[in-house]
Amino acid sequence: MRQVWRNFNAVTMTGGAYALIERAAMVTRAERIEWVGPEAELPRTDAAHEHDLGGAWVTPGLIDCHTHLVFGGDRSQEFEQRLQGVDYATIAAQGGGIASTVRATRAASENELYASARKRALHLLRDGVTTLEVKSGYGLDLPNERKMLRVARRLGQTLPLTVSATCLAAHALPPEYAGRADDYIDEVARRMLPVLAAEGLIDAVDAFCEHLAFTPGQVERVFLAARELALPVKLHAEQLSPLHGATLAARYGAWSADHLEYLMESDVQAMARAGTVAVLLPGAFYALRETQLPPVDLLRRYGVPIAISTDLNPGTSPVLSLRLMLSMACTLFRLTPEEALAGVTTHAAQALGLQATHGTLEAGKYADFVAWELGHPAELAYWIGGDLPKRVVRHGAPVDFAALD
Ligand code: NIG
Ligand code: FE
Repeated sequence: MRQVWRNFNAVTMTGGAYALIERAAMVTRAERIEWVGPEAELPRTDAAHEHDLGGAWVTPGLIDCHTHLVFGGDRSQEFEQRLQGVDYATIAAQGGGIASTVRATRAASENELYASARKRALHLLRDGVTTLEVKSGYGLDLPNERKMLRVARRLGQTLPLTVSATCLAAHALPPEYAGRADDYIDEVARRMLPVLAAEGLIDAVDAFCEHLAFTPGQVERVFLAARELALPVKLHAEQLSPLHGATLAARYGAWSADHLEYLMESDVQAMARAGTVAVLLPGAFYALRETQLPPVDLLRRYGVPIAISTDLNPGTSPVLSLRLMLSMACTLFRLTPEEALAGVTTHAAQALGLQATHGTLEAGKYADFVAWELGHPAELAYWIGGDLPKRVVRHGAPVDFAALD
């Protein structure tokens, strides 16, 4: 079915300065964009529907390329502890942090996890997100990692969202492997990844490279296993200390390296050579009251694409709005509003290997877009909080939020 969309300004994100087309029109056919350009040049069509977007600014559907939104319980008490001065690493060493979410996630049924994750996903969808990455990493054994990844798949089947599922089994050491990190890495590399990949549950493989998680050598064994299974990799790197995880990730052609507060120039060069996207996570930076800024100028200088994401997780980033991350990326990391928008559209698509089909308004891509009632696209990063009036279209179909409640 062909549809025509008229009377809007297109923020196509295909090049510099938002790649604006004022007084634009678009033709969609089934789930894809067939044509987008100035309304004056609209080709003649036999459209079944014509939509007047009322002068809105239309951006690509937003892409949240790094979330941990499937989890049991919450960590509000840890938040209170942190406010009293106990730091993230100390809480983790006391058995809190990720380990406490592992206990709650293991105790939850698949249906319980689905119900709570669906609510969080709806927050993001209402905020203009049409593509979402979801990581496992709170199960840390085969049945519980499988349970999380199945919930991720189910979210993609039941909500008007494209969901990319990432296996983060190498997120933390499960208690039953205390003191035996290498044995756990063997279990991840030799059993969990092959089995879960064979079940079709994995789109990419991630790990947490940090002194409180896994060493670069251990991460490399996970990456080697991913390579054998022809699965792409990503990495939580340089969040709390400079271990050159990003360089390792780049060597394995990673789609992205994420966090990156402690990234060094040599890592940036390696990422640039490999085409690895830098995913910056201002919510975690803010919530941990981090003061070390990611090296945005170096990323710019070497032309490393920058993506922005919520890192939605119960510990370090209980963030339910991707648009709020645009504001934080500008104010905390000094991105321009245009860079921030590229970070949740075209560059976020690249961080998920979806650049051929998602992230810009272009013929051939999915018709995933948001029509915002705004005066200028910079307002997306300017307003803090609130629910901006918008219409969300996913795969050519307007999203009916009332039907999702
Ligand atoms: O991306 N850095 C490691 N993993 C998550 C935090 C997970 C948690 O604390 O539960 C992150 O910040
Ligand atoms: Fe994360």
